Formats: sequence, structure tokens, C-alpha cells
Amino acid sequence: MGFRHAMLSARLHLRRGDLPPLQRQRIRSLGLRGGPARTVMEPRYDRNRSRVADVHAHLLLCEGSFSPPLGDRVSIDDYAAKLVARAGRFEAWAGSDLIGLVAIYCNAPDRQDAFVTNVSVVPHRVREGIGLRLLGDATTYVRSLAFRRLVLSVDRSAGALGLYHRSGFQAEASDGETMRMVLGLSKDAAS
Ligand SMILES: CC(C)(COP(=O)(O)OP(=O)(O)OC[C@H]1O[C@@H](n2cnc3c(N)ncnc32)[C@H](O)[C@@H]1OP(=O)(O)O)[C@@H](O)C(=O)NCCC(=O)NCCS
Repeated sequence: MGFRHAMLSARLHLRRGDLPPLQRQRIRSLGLRGGPARTVMEPRYDRNRSRVADVHAHLLLCEGSFSPPLGDRVSIDDYAAKLVARAGRFEAWAGSDLIGLVAIYCNAPDRQDAFVTNVSVVPHRVREGIGLRLLGDATTYVRSLAFRRLVLSVDRSAGALGLYHRSGFQAEASDGETMRMVLGLSKDAAS
């Protein structure tokens, strides 16, 4: 059974009365403008639980939403394997489906910059606050490791810019269409 089928099942067929109380708490209704209410699972947040297959499936669902599309820049097979092998992963799950992923590299020995390599939320779960929550969790983590800054690169036209501004990132430099953004983490940083 595929991911899409699982999500459809979760949205269309689950009724609160059919679920045990604990699961009921994780299900909520979202009213769509002018349309019928849909039922979605509350995200559960975790860290480094994902396997390569989870990350791969997630990136395939998100890849067309990146600007430019992710597959234009990297091999999704290789990138999924690299993230699981090397990146710290902040994850949102709906059941067994990975619906949000922030991945960071925090291996610089001088603890100056930690680098955000991926931020993605599956298209059918955007604008629910998942990206903001995951970036917040990643920020708390790198701050606890005493890194001074959290850094990322973003396409100037990406919708994600709104999320980064909202999370306190500031533009530092640009190179053509790509912009480098920085979030200061030290106590006296304006973040
Ligand atoms: C960018 C992305 C991660 C945002 O995730 P999300 O879970 O929808 O973000 P949130 O719901 O937490 O958004 C929090 C706030 O960020 C801002 N924001 C998020 N997405 C935005 C968008 N597309 N345009 C403008 N502002 C946006 C808004 O202020 C939003 O608050 P609001 O919904 O109350 O207005 C998601 O759209 C995505 O996966 N995009 C494709 C992949 C991508 O571009 N990744 C970044 C590569 S650098």
C-alpha cells in the first residue's frame, strides 16, 4: 500500500469514534475554505528516527515544490542516503509517514556555523506550522551544542524565505539567485 493511499485513508476513512482515545487526540479536523472539513493526523515530532526509505519517499513528494526542483540539483537517491548518514534530522510524522524534515550539518570543529541542508514539508501539509516548529527544534539543538550561527542558502524566489524571516534569519550575502541567510545563536545575537 502506497504513501498516497495511506494518506487518503487517514483523511477520508478515519472517524474519531473508531479510534482508541490516545489516537483520537492525534486526529483533528481542518476546515477547508468553502469545502468539506478534512481529517488529518496531528504531527508527532521526533529526531533521527527516519531511515533512507522514509527520507527518499518524503523528498520525492516534496521535490517539485523546491525552487528550482530538487531533482535538478541533486540525485534524490544519493541525497537521501547522505542525509541519513551525516545530517541531524528533525522530523514530523503522521503515523509512519515522514511529512516534514529539517536536516542540519553540525560537524564544524570550531562550532562557528551549523548548516541547514534541507527544509521540506509535504505539499498537503504546508501552512500548518510544521516547518516553523522543525526549524525551532533544530535551532534549540544547535544552540545547545554551543554553535554561534545557523546558516542556510535559499533561492531568492523561494516561498521558504517567508519561513526563514519568520524564524529570525537575516540575509548575509547573495550570489546570483542564491541568498545566504544567517541566524545568530549567541546570547547577544539579534535573533
Ligand atoms: C517552505 C516550507 C518548508 C514551509 O513549511 P510550512 O510547514 O508550510 O511552514 P509553516 O506552516 O511553519 O509556516 C510558518 C510561517 O512561515 C511563512 N511561510 C511559510 N511558507 C511560506 C510561503 N510559501 N510563502 C510565504 N511565507 C511562508 C509564513 O509566515 C508562515 O506563517 P503563516 O502560515 O501563519 O502565514 C514548505 O513550503 C516546503 O516544503 N516548500 C518546498 C521545499 C522548499 O522550498 N524548501 C526550502 C528550500 S531552501
